[in-house]
Amino acid sequence: MPSITCSDGPVAVTGAAGFIGSHIVQNLVRRGYTVRACVRDPANVTNTAHLLAMNADGPGRVTLHGCDMTQPGAYDGVFRGCVGVFHAAAEMGNLEGSTPLKVYEGGIGATRLVVSSIRQAGSVRRLVYTSSFAAVGHPVDAEGTAYTEASWADMNQHLRGSGSAWTMEVVRRNREVAYAMTKVESERFVYSEVEKHGFDAFGVCPCHVIGPLLSASHQRPWAWQTRIGDMLEGYSHPRMFWNVVDVRDVAESQCLIMENTRDTSGQRYNLVAPDETCLLPQQDLQALLRRLYPGIGIGGV
Ligand SMILES: NC(=O)c1ccc[n+]([C@@H]2O[C@H](COP(=O)([O-])OP(=O)(O)OC[C@H]3O[C@@H](n4cnc5c(N)ncnc54)[C@H](OP(=O)(O)O)[C@@H]3O)[C@@H](O)[C@H]2O)c1
Repeated sequence: MPSITCSDGPVAVTGAAGFIGSHIVQNLVRRGYTVRACVRDPANVTNTAHLLAMNADGPGRVTLHGCDMTQPGAYDGVFRGCVGVFHAAAEMGNLEGSTPLKVYEGGIGATRLVVSSIRQAGSVRRLVYTSSFAAVGHPVDAEGTAYTEASWADMNQHLRGSGSAWTMEVVRRNREVAYAMTKVESERFVYSEVEKHGFDAFGVCPCHVIGPLLSASHQRPWAWQTRIGDMLEGYSHPRMFWNVVDVRDVAESQCLIMENTRDTSGQRYNLVAPDETCLLPQQDLQALLRRLYPGIGIGGV
């Protein structure tokens, strides 16, 4: 299917009020698109006012649409007439009443709904799905193994311990496994559907996304964009490597994918540091923060 431009018709963004979704909407409005922003509750001004304010950021235009991705047909009406869809909504595990099982079922369930509404609409030419590096990284037994777009997180299952095996029993209690499984299944599902139903689909797999918060509601617990702030407030986090991508680049890349005339459907893109020189160990990040803010007690292990 041909790529799209802002003059071809409206585009829809799921999870539009979220951290990444909001930057996608902002990027699209600045490019001149008419954007249908799908949010759970348009009347929740704290969560949506920043989207409507983007109308002053033009030349495009944004409207709010209430869609609960747990409800069948949630996106049927709003996708009708759209030429492109960005699917960034997800049950991340930090909502009230969240469980690992809801993370798993919410992710794959929403992706099925999105694809079903795209088929109903008949007008959508391209889908860009925000997957995750969680769908890529997997245990390896050889030092120096490089992950590529051909890597899938369900590879080398035999190297996983019983606590992180990909079984429904583990999914019920382990959010990380639930998240990785739902991302792998969702991505594979969209690529398999495109061949059957004649639209193009692409995936992006970012690692740790940080950058400007466009709304106070992006100050979410256990989200990467707030963890450095948490450390400045003295909270510690497990020792890890940071592999950072700026949220504005995540948004820009998705808009470029939508418009790129050379992309082949089914292509996925790892949005990550290309080699170990760009990986930041947690202790180096903490040392940097201590240098930048000498008067503040930096949290850490
Ligand atoms: N942040 C990262 O570091 C990172 C890294 C890799 C991949 N990703 C992926 O990027 C995507 C967006 O993540 P994010 O960081 O922007 O998360 P986020 O800020 O929590 O946004 C997720 C959005 O999903 C929506 N959502 C949740 N439950 C819903 C429901 N029942 N119906 C409709 N919408 C619902 C929420 O909508 P409302 O605001 O309207 O409630 C929320 O805005 C996710 O797919 C995530 O897996 C994120």
